[in-house]
Amino acid sequence: MLKIGLIGCGFMGTMHANCYNAIEGVQVVAVADLQRDKAEALAKLSNAKIYSTGMELIENENVDALDICLPTYLHAAHAEAAMRKVKNVFVEKPVTFTVKEGEKLLKVQRETGAGVQVGQVIRFWDEYVWLKELIDGGKYGKVVNAMFRRLSPRPDGWEHWFRNAEKSGGAALDLHIHDIDYMLYAFGKPKTFHSAVAHGGENNSYVAAIANYGDKVVTVEGSWDLPADFPFEMFYRVKFENAVAEYSHEGLKLYTDGGVENVQLTKAFNAQVEGAGNISDLGGYFNELKYFTDCLKEGKHPEKAGLADAVESVKFVREEIK
Ligand SMILES: NC(=O)c1ccc[n+]([C@@H]2O[C@H](COP(=O)([O-])OP(=O)(O)OC[C@H]3O[C@@H](n4cnc5c(N)ncnc54)[C@H](O)[C@@H]3O)[C@@H](O)[C@H]2O)c1
Repeated sequence: MLKIGLIGCGFMGTMHANCYNAIEGVQVVAVADLQRDKAEALAKLSNAKIYSTGMELIENENVDALDICLPTYLHAAHAEAAMRKVKNVFVEKPVTFTVKEGEKLLKVQRETGAGVQVGQVIRFWDEYVWLKELIDGGKYGKVVNAMFRRLSPRPDGWEHWFRNAEKSGGAALDLHIHDIDYMLYAFGKPKTFHSAVAHGGENNSYVAAIANYGDKVVTVEGSWDLPADFPFEMFYRVKFENAVAEYSHEGLKLYTDGGVENVQLTKAFNAQVEGAGNISDLGGYFNELKYFTDCLKEGKHPEKAGLADAVESVKFVREEIK
């Protein structure tokens, strides 16, 4: 049985605890949260021991892996302590608040040899996994242009930390990084890149970016400065030489000159979590944690969504903000 220590029992910790519960041979044996009721709610899922702070759990518990679901500004210190304690660590995205912290973690990784996976979950989201295979396989030719969009009502979190750009980095670092990370994963670094970040009402609340790769142009839009009832949206439209793939509220569609196909994917895991706001689908989170725990079981370090890539994504978005 793989023993997991879960740090942070808020929105993301709840998603992770439910996913671990569904993975065979894995048990969350310890949880930590400053809010006792949050920790108790997750502890009862797997009869886990409760700690009040992440550092206490790291110091006192002997586990196979640590999973950090804390607010972003707390990632670096906890990830460093975790890497010094166990062989494998999972850190939510964005991996660090600053580039400097990210570089420090890479140094700690070289020293400790710890495996690190970062919660760049879009790399594991079924519709985006399908898209990556289409891009790499070349069935419909090369990508000519692409558009990725992510829009959300304003998140809040523990003590309103999301609303403070000094803690979350705003929509640019927190939300838009999902699509930037996927763009870098799918296409590599662009030749040139232009970005506008809006600060209306709140820092870094809207980002529009255009990346020029020479043979294709990629547009990425992200915002969380939207009213509470605005439906969360993740969207892409990718134009290949001989087809268009589109993922929207209406599902996944593939347009060719032969017509339009409603693509139905077989998902590894279909479950919802109550009270998880508008991202209640656990599928992508399950896929990333299944991969993380499978790597652990096989004695391998996770490579998909590893630390170096995650730090590159933070660098990219920090450049946009600057
Ligand atoms: N991958 C995704 O799709 C996704 C979605 C949402 C959030 N996130 C990321 O997940 C991370 C957590 O976000 P969230 O939405 O769960 O936040 P949250 O505010 O819901 O939860 C954070 C929890 O950490 C606890 N906490 C704070 N300091 C602590 C400490 N020192 N020790 C123990 N517990 C402590 C708080 O009490 C709170 O319960 C962030 O980095 C965020 O960017 C990722």
